[in-house]
Amino acid sequence: MKNIMSMSLKGLIAAIVFFFFLLPVFLAAGQDRPLPAGKLGQTIALGREISLNTAKHPMSKQYVGNVLNCSSCHLKNGTDLKTLTYIGVATAYPAYSPREDAVITLADRIAYCFMRSMNGIEPPADSTLVTAIAAYITWLSEGAAIKMNPAAPLGPNAMKRININPQTVDIENGKKVYQAQCASCHGDDGQGVKAIQFPEASPGGCTPLWGVNSFNKGAGMYKLQTAASFIKSSMPYGAAVLSEKDAVDVAAYINSKDRPDFDIKKHDIKKHLPNPAPRAKVSN
Ligand code: HEC
Ligand code: HEC
Repeated sequence: MKNIMSMSLKGLIAAIVFFFFLLPVFLAAGQDRPLPAGKLGQTIALGREISLNTAKHPMSKQYVGNVLNCSSCHLKNGTDLKTLTYIGVATAYPAYSPREDAVITLADRIAYCFMRSMNGIEPPADSTLVTAIAAYITWLSEGAAIKMNPAAPLGPNAMKRININPQTVDIENGKKVYQAQCASCHGDDGQGVKAIQFPEASPGGCTPLWGVNSFNKGAGMYKLQTAASFIKSSMPYGAAVLSEKDAVDVAAYINSKDRPDFDIKKHDIKKHLPNPAPRAKVSN
C-alpha cells in the first residue's frame, strides 16, 4: 500500500513538473524542433519567413502599408512567451471577437493584423500567404490543448495586462520617458533608427513608433492598455525596466502623435463588422 501511494505521489509530482515546468519549456523551444516533412514543413517555413520579413517578402509586401514586420510586435517571431506570443494561439480559434461581434478564424485574425497593425489591406483568407502564416502559428501551438475562447480572440498565453487609470495619465512625463528610454533606438522623431539592428530582432532595424510608416488607429497597439502592457513587458528592448506608470505615460505619448487613420469602408471584409460596409474589390 505504502509503495503504491509513494509511486502515485511520484507520478503526481512528475506530472506537475511536466505540465508546469517542462511543457512550457518544450513549447517555448518549439521553434527549434525539426519541421514536419514535405509540403507542410515547407509551408511552415514560408510562414515563419513571411512573419519575420513581412514588409519586404515578395509574397506579403503588397499587403503591407508601413515598414513593420509581424515580428516587430510578435517578438522573436512570436516565440517570446511574455510578449504577444504565437505559442498556443491556434488552440483558441475559431474564437469569439467582441470587436466584430462574430466568431472569427485564425485566417481572419491574421488578415486583421494586416489591415490594422501593418496599415495595409487584407490578403485573401484562402491565399498561400495566410495559410503559411497560419501553419507557422499552428506549428508553434502544437502540443498545447485546445482552449476555445468565448470572450476574446486571444490564446492561452495572452499578454499580461497592466491596469490603467485614465485620470492619472501624464503625457508630459511620457515625453520625458520617451527621450530617456526610447529615442536612442526609435529616434528623436519617432521614425526608428534603421542602423540599429539586433540579431534576434526582425530585419529593418529599429521601427517607427508614429507617422505614416507606423501602425494605424485601428491597431491593437493604438489602445492605451495594450501598448502600455507591451511596453511594460518588453521595452526598452532587452531591458524592460519601466514602472507601470512610466509605461502607461510613454504609451499615451506615442499614441498622441500622428499616425494613419483606419477606415473600415476601404476594406474588403465579409464578416468583419456586424453591418459590413459595401465590398470593394481587392486584387490578389
Ligand atoms: C504594431 C504591432 C503589431 C504588428 C506589426 C502585428 N501585430 Fe498581431 N497583434 C498585435 C496586438 C497588439 C494583438 C492583440 C493581442 C492582445 O491584445 O493581447 C495582436 C494579435 C494577433 C493575433 C491573435 C493573437 C491571439 O492571442 O489570439 C495574431 C494571430 C496576430 N496578431 C498575427 C499577426 C500577424 C500574422 C502579423 C503580420 C501580418 C501581425 N500580427 C502584426 C500587434 C501587432
Ligand atoms: C535598444 C533599442 C530599443 C529601445 C531603447 C527601445 N526599443 Fe522598442 N523596439 C526595438 C526593436 C529592435 C523593436 C522591434 C523588434 C523586432 O523587430 O524583433 C522594437 C519594437 C517596439 C514596438 C513595436 C513595433 C512598433 O514599431 O510599433 C514598440 C511599440 C516599441 N518598440 C516601443 C518602445 C518604447 C515605448 C520604448 C521606450 C520605453 C522602446 N521601444 C525602447 C528596440 C528598442
